[in-house]
Formats: sequence, C-alpha cells, structure tokens
Amino acid sequence: MNILVLQGSPNANGSTALLAREFARGARDAGHSVQVVDVASLDIAPCTGCVACGYEGPCAQYDDFDGLRQKILSADMLVFATPLYYYGMTAQLKAVVDRFCSANSSITRKHLKSALLTVAWNADDWTFDALESHYDTLVRYLSLQDCGRVLGAGCGTVSMTKHSGFPEKAYALGQSL
Ligand SMILES: Cc1cc2nc3c(=O)[nH]c(=O)nc-3n(C[C@H](O)[C@H](O)[C@H](O)COP(=O)(O)O)c2cc1C
Repeated sequence: MNILVLQGSPNANGSTALLAREFARGARDAGHSVQVVDVASLDIAPCTGCVACGYEGPCAQYDDFDGLRQKILSADMLVFATPLYYYGMTAQLKAVVDRFCSANSSITRKHLKSALLTVAWNADDWTFDALESHYDTLVRYLSLQDCGRVLGAGCGTVSMTKHSGFPEKAYALGQSL
C-alpha cells in the first residue's frame, strides 16, 4: 500500500512528528511504502472559496498544493497527523484539507484508507472529542475507510511523549496495516 502521512505540526521534530515517524516505521516493517510530508513547511494558502475549481478541477491558486494533490491521488491511505490546537487540528493541516476542494470527487471516489495520529497536553476524557468528531465526519463525507487512531493524551512535550506509550501505539498501528 502507498501511504501518505500529512504531518500537520509546525514542529518538524515535535511529538506529532515522533508519532508519524513511528507509524511510518511500523508500516514500512509491514511492507508498505510510506511518505511523511511536513505540510507546515509547504507553501499552501487557505482556500479562498472562489470555487473556480467547481469542486473538481484546477485550483485558481498555484502553490505547493499542486504537488501534494498528485501525492494524495496516488495514495491508498491518508494519515492525518496533528497536535491538538484549541481542540481541533492545526490551521496548517486544515488549510490542506480545505484545498481538497479542487479534488473532492477524485478523493471521494478512491475510498482511501485513513488514520488519525494526534497529541495534546491535556488528558481529560473529553480532550479529543471535537477532533475525533471532525475526523469521523471527514471519514464519512470523503468515503474514507478508517484504520485506526492514536490519541496521545498527556503528550505536551517531546519528552512527555517519549515516556508515554503512544510512540509504541503508533508503531503498532502502522505494523497492523
Ligand atoms: C496554539 C496551541 C494550541 C494548543 N491547544 C491545545 C489544546 O486545545 N488542548 C491541549 O491539550 N493542548 C493544546 N496545545 C498543546 C499541544 O497540543 C501539545 O504541546 C503538543 O504536544 C504539541 O505537539 P508538537 O510537538 O507536534 O507541535 C496547544 C499548543 C499550541 C501551541
């Protein structure tokens, strides 16, 4: 399987990136091809809502989404990786999701597999409710096939994350595919 991880933290060496790396290691050990893309380092502007694309067609904005769109459409699985920012995904990852607009039908038709990797400082039982609800709704709307999620509660720093069981859980999820 060709797996694309959309790593949405601006910290290239942070906790989200750590889970993404461990997930990728597990998936590669299981024989899959994995590419992790730090979307925050790309030049991807927010959707302007012009709908020149008609929800399927060339986007009026020319930036790094063009290349990412090709990667998305060649993938069998999309992994959304994000730290929790005000109980949602980061603006950088949301900008990418909003730009799905110009490939909406193509993405939906592919019935891509998907997963969610996330970390947060808090560890209340409701910490990930809003993000999970958003992810579950994307799965439903985009006809994705959810393969699992790692919800890294109490992962406020890289050190906290390294000492949690979540990197192992990310590896196990990748290896289970
Ligand atoms: C702008 C911002 C918003 C955040 N919002 C939340 C939040 O709503 N809930 C939470 O538990 N942690 C929140 N955090 C903490 C991060 O999710 C946490 O530190 C995470 O480990 C950062 O991951 P990273 O190393 O991949 O960047 C926030 C951090 C920042 C910078």
